[in-house]
Amino acid sequence: MDVRPAESSEIDALASLWHAGWTDAHATIVPAELKRVRTLESFRDRLRAGLANVRTLGDIGAPLGLCWVKDSELYQLYVAAHARGTGIASALIADAESRLLNAGFDVAWLACAIGNSRAARFYEKSGWHRARTMTNVLDTPTGTFPLEVWRYEKSLRPGAGLPRC
Ligand SMILES: CC(C)(COP(=O)(O)OP(=O)(O)OC[C@H]1O[C@@H](n2cnc3c(N)ncnc32)[C@H](O)[C@@H]1OP(=O)(O)O)[C@@H](O)C(=O)NCCC(=O)NCCS
Repeated sequence: MDVRPAESSEIDALASLWHAGWTDAHATIVPAELKRVRTLESFRDRLRAGLANVRTLGDIGAPLGLCWVKDSELYQLYVAAHARGTGIASALIADAESRLLNAGFDVAWLACAIGNSRAARFYEKSGWHRARTMTNVLDTPTGTFPLEVWRYEKSLRPGAGLPRC
């Protein structure tokens, strides 16, 4: 499972994967107002703008997942429905954590929509802990949208948090 940079030729495939995954995970747990603005086109536009930070795996043009880091944030993590439960998410998050550590961050964070239980279970088994709830200010095509989320954090440096002798 080699994680690789996303290519501009696969933006449409990545946008479809992201839009479908976002809808799977969020359709029943976020306000209707947010669902209305999370269109396929909006995901395509965001990918175009941030592609340099997006990593994926699978054949070019047939991505199986995507992961995106932004500063110290694990900003997006999505796996295609048919590829969930296969270890792809673990490969993507391990790659992201090592990029965050190499960028100099000792602690990473992410926002998970309240009630996204599968994602929460995945983060917890990957060593992340739920620190608190917070208001995440989301960018949308019509302006910002404040959403209460679970904030997860993880210490990335090996041995961090252990008692010093
Ligand atoms: C979140 C995501 C990346 C995790 O990848 P994955 O391949 O599904 O992860 P895994 O299958 O390894 O782990 C999921 C865990 O949740 C469990 N699970 C499945 N459905 C669940 C549910 N409804 N509630 C709670 N746990 C659930 C699984 O059994 C598994 O735990 P286990 O390994 O202890 O059995 C993937 O599910 C996904 O893309 N979801 C849609 C998009 C999304 O929510 N992204 C995260 C946004 S914050």
